[in-house]
Amino acid sequence: MKFIIGILLIGVVITLDLPVPGDVEQISKAWDAVKNNEVEILYFIFKSYPDIQARFPKFAGKDLDSIKGSADFAIHATRIVSFITQLYSFGKYGASHYAAGFTIVNEFASNHKNRGIPKDQLSEFCTALTKYVSTHAPWDDNIAAAWSRGMKSFLEVSFANYDGHPINSV
Ligand code: HEM
Repeated sequence: MKFIIGILLIGVVITLDLPVPGDVEQISKAWDAVKNNEVEILYFIFKSYPDIQARFPKFAGKDLDSIKGSADFAIHATRIVSFITQLYSFGKYGASHYAAGFTIVNEFASNHKNRGIPKDQLSEFCTALTKYVSTHAPWDDNIAAAWSRGMKSFLEVSFANYDGHPINSV
């Protein structure tokens, strides 16, 4: 049994489609252009997926356009967008900072799992974020491929944590 579980875990690690050298530079072309649009990004995500907005006690059931200008909205938008910038900054340092990236993604996943946020909603969030970035920043095939590897890795590490076998290294 342990052997089978071991094989399954190795499978998870091997399928991890980690960003490759050069991806950080590609992603920065897009991310640097939108990383200060915190409120617009969260607005776009809630507009695309009202079911995500409904999970926030402070925002559930409220008119999106009326909360957009509030301090609470700005605080949460900045938390989320800064988290992504932090993750991406670790990537810029390369292998020496991979552990830091795994640590914050695992913390993120535990927090969100404990809040009862299903995997599908994490995927929705990433879909909306990708749509926003791809339509508001420089975007081409190379940037799209690098961005996609980043998002896939983020979700794979998060889902492994959800499933109870967190990934902590490459
Ligand atoms: C997948 C990308 C996401 C990122 C990067 C992200 C990031 C964050 C961060 C950094 C925080 C603050 C730290 C914490 O309390 O954990 C947070 C809080 C929270 N997130 Fe997310 N989140 C994501 C997706 C979602 C989704 C899809 C939902 C709901 C469907 C959600 C619901 C919440 C809630 C309810 C809070 C607490 C808000 C509060 O303090 O009032 N998150 N998120």
